[in-house]
Amino acid sequence: MSAATQSHRIVSDSAEATRAHGEALGRRLRAGDRVNLVGPLGAGKTVFVQGIARGMGLAADFPVTSPTYARMNLYPTDPPLYHWDLYRVSDGAAADAELSALGFGDEVAGPGVVVVEWADRGEQATSDDVAILVRLSYGETPDERIIEITT
Ligand SMILES: Nc1ncnc2c1ncn2[C@@H]1O[C@H](COP(=O)(O)OP(=O)(O)OP(=O)(O)O)[C@@H](O)[C@H]1O
Ligand SMILES: [Mg+2]
Repeated sequence: MSAATQSHRIVSDSAEATRAHGEALGRRLRAGDRVNLVGPLGAGKTVFVQGIARGMGLAADFPVTSPTYARMNLYPTDPPLYHWDLYRVSDGAAADAELSALGFGDEVAGPGVVVVEWADRGEQATSDDVAILVRLSYGETPDERIIEITT
């Protein structure tokens, strides 16, 4: 990471608040941007991506769900939004080969914004200096989440 790295920490107390933070980020994203999302099961990665999609102008009734089995969902925003989930990708050295076989990095609908849940499962493929990192974790109450955004 460069010296210009900036990090901020938000406490969210509802799914809708997390969505709103995702939306604010989504409004700023441009083709070529990548957002890596990390955090445990149920931390709110998909909820945050729902907000990103909304901020990028996706129709409110278009479903945004974890592409755990599909691996990638493509949303018809402008630029297109590629939503990956690497939960089921193998650990370690096998991950890169698996990801290229799945077409990770192939922007089939043109240059777009790429968001990646469980980005830490594909460490090599998803590590770079330019990606925005969103780290979600559980807070102290059932609906509290800590969101750390590093740009
Ligand atoms: N402050 C909050 N922010 C986000 N989600 C919250 C919050 N409080 C409660 N929730 C709930 O937590 C769940 C988060 O689910 P979500 O699918 O976004 O997690 P995820 O990190 O994508 O999990 P997975 O790793 O299984 O894909 C939702 O059911 C949501 O309603
Ligand atoms: Mg998810």
